[in-house]
Amino acid sequence: MTPVAELFDVIVLGAGAAGLMCALTAGQRGKRVLLLDHADEPGKKILISGGGRCNFTNLGCVPDRFLSANRHFVRSALSRYTQHDFIALVNRHQIAWHEKTLGQLFCDGSAREIVAMLVAECAAGNVDMRMGHRITGVADGFRVDTDHGAFTAPTLVLATGGLSIPKMGATGFAHDVARQFELRLTDIRPGLVPFTFQGEALDLMRKLSGVALPVLARIGKTRFREAMLFTHRGLSGPAVLQISSFWKPGVEITLDCLPDQDVLAALLGRKNSRPRAEFKTVLSELLPQRLAASLAPEAGPAMGNQTDRALAAMAERLKNWRLTPSGTEGYVKAEVTLGGIDTHDLSSQTMQANTVPGLFAIGEAVDVTGWLGGYNFQWAWSSGWCAGMAV
Ligand code: FDA
Repeated sequence: MTPVAELFDVIVLGAGAAGLMCALTAGQRGKRVLLLDHADEPGKKILISGGGRCNFTNLGCVPDRFLSANRHFVRSALSRYTQHDFIALVNRHQIAWHEKTLGQLFCDGSAREIVAMLVAECAAGNVDMRMGHRITGVADGFRVDTDHGAFTAPTLVLATGGLSIPKMGATGFAHDVARQFELRLTDIRPGLVPFTFQGEALDLMRKLSGVALPVLARIGKTRFREAMLFTHRGLSGPAVLQISSFWKPGVEITLDCLPDQDVLAALLGRKNSRPRAEFKTVLSELLPQRLAASLAPEAGPAMGNQTDRALAAMAERLKNWRLTPSGTEGYVKAEVTLGGIDTHDLSSQTMQANTVPGLFAIGEAVDVTGWLGGYNFQWAWSSGWCAGMAV
């Protein structure tokens, strides 16, 4: 016999950033909301985000900071619930914050304050939050079976995120349910993720592991000017994470290791002014010591004995260092999942599925991925709020 199911107005699956925002918004509108999650506490990714300080939004949040097969999709949600709306909520809860760089807003204290704020807002909306529930099935209508009993509601919101960081409980659950209801999915791959290398390039990167420097990383016309870090597997740091979302296997990336400098002019100038200086000394005036030292064997004798051609070759290497990653560190290290539920199958105003009345999808489960810098949380808040207003 099928067990009797508890009845709600709305069931939200996933108590992460998007699910919490959706649940609190719907609850405060008077809806009876059930928020279900298999984790032992809500908002786990919020807690580890931004090095524990949560980069919760970006002052410069505009639609062109998002990747999606349907790039206009984000416009409506981002304009209806903006970064300023979220900042106002944070201010109401007297959470101190600061702008770090490039419009990125972080808590002064801890990401815990953001989770506590969202949980308190859910409580204010009488949201019934149940953690530690393993979902065993979803059926039409909607019925959700779990290891703690069954629940029904005419409205179901998919907010279980993407595949990144499986050890924190990330699953492809939202994608599976979307498939079950015949929504389309776009290609899925890790985003905001470090690159791996093989062969000589990897040998060099291992030697340089721990060295960081500001670079301009490019793929075609897409470019990011931020810090880069050499790792024992390849390359990481904000510039690399950003460009990784635009990378596909086999594609070459180009690094400008001295984006502020005309390197050739600088080298020729020093050849004239300091002909007896060693090439490696000159390089270490421009670059981190270990990087300069690792290029030095190629650099050869004193500046005065360098040919202009050799200096041009070094300048070219530093300004246009071309590398083809062998891969990425995958979902284990990716901050986000690129791709997801096809936005062509969702309303951009409400996040409701076009062909399945009552079914909604929000947050990272959807084919919308922001740049690094608070954009992904803003998408979770905006899409969560829009669904919460519509359910
Ligand atoms: P999210 O992953 O937050 O939540 C999904 C919820 O669903 C989780 O609670 C999970 O337990 C639950 N769930 C999953 N599968 C389930 C299942 N089968 N059954 C039941 N429940 C299930 N972004 C940003 O803007 N600023 C930042 O500082 C950072 N920093 C950052 C650091 C790191 C290390 C990572 C991995 C990611 C970030 N991000 C970020 C990205 C950001 O964390 C991400 O975009 C949002 O958390 C997405 O919110 P969602 O609510 O969609 O998914």
